[in-house]
Amino acid sequence: MPKTTLKNLAIIMDGNGRWAQQRGLNRTKGHEQGAEIIRDVTVYCAKHPSIETVTFYAFSTENWKRPKLEVEFLMKLLDRYLQKELDTYQNNNVCFEAIGNIGAFSDKLQKRIKITEEATRNNTDLTHILALNYGGRAEITAAVNKLITEGKKEVTEADISSALQTPYSDIDLLIRTSGEERISNYLLWQISYAELYFTETLWPDFTTQELDEIVTDFEQRTRRFGGLA
Ligand code: FPP
Repeated sequence: MPKTTLKNLAIIMDGNGRWAQQRGLNRTKGHEQGAEIIRDVTVYCAKHPSIETVTFYAFSTENWKRPKLEVEFLMKLLDRYLQKELDTYQNNNVCFEAIGNIGAFSDKLQKRIKITEEATRNNTDLTHILALNYGGRAEITAAVNKLITEGKKEVTEADISSALQTPYSDIDLLIRTSGEERISNYLLWQISYAELYFTETLWPDFTTQELDEIVTDFEQRTRRFGGLA
């Protein structure tokens, strides 16, 4: 049987806090280790023959509810991460993009995001997307409002797909780590027919070896999209 092709992968990176607490460390240490895993997964995806995009849920519209110090730490970590990983993007021909309401971040961080996007714009092996201050419902609402502003009185599914922030309209595989089995307002439109994979592994313990096993599992699945096999 031919393999099912994986083009668009999405990941909910969960379990950083628990990973740190299990080791008697501050939750922020879990986020730091989690950022390292993003790099490894990105390199794996860039080398994979069929993966075109990987979209990581790095900060949701609901994550502002966390303690101020944790939010501040995440913002600083993101700035450091983008600065540090620019070489990784360039060396692996990876294009970086951000989705979500970036306007809510500091000017410094917004600038860092724009600089990274511009520097990697022409890289073609993988598009690596960070969902930042992102919420699926907010994204769909913004897409519909954009279409109304453009003068549309009635919209089609294709109109909404093309007004979304993501360069694709369908995710093929969604992975969530840490044993939680929920979607948490992530890419709601794009996951309509996604295959789902939940692993007990906490994000900072996630490895490219496990990812490779999950991808192999996906490639053996039969996707019917509501039809018959
Ligand atoms: C969930 O762990 C993870 C997040 C809040 C977002 C993911 C963030 C990172 C991987 C770190 C930094 C990212 C970048 C791009 C530098 P949690 O805190 O909810 O874990 P818990 O459920 O065990 O408390």
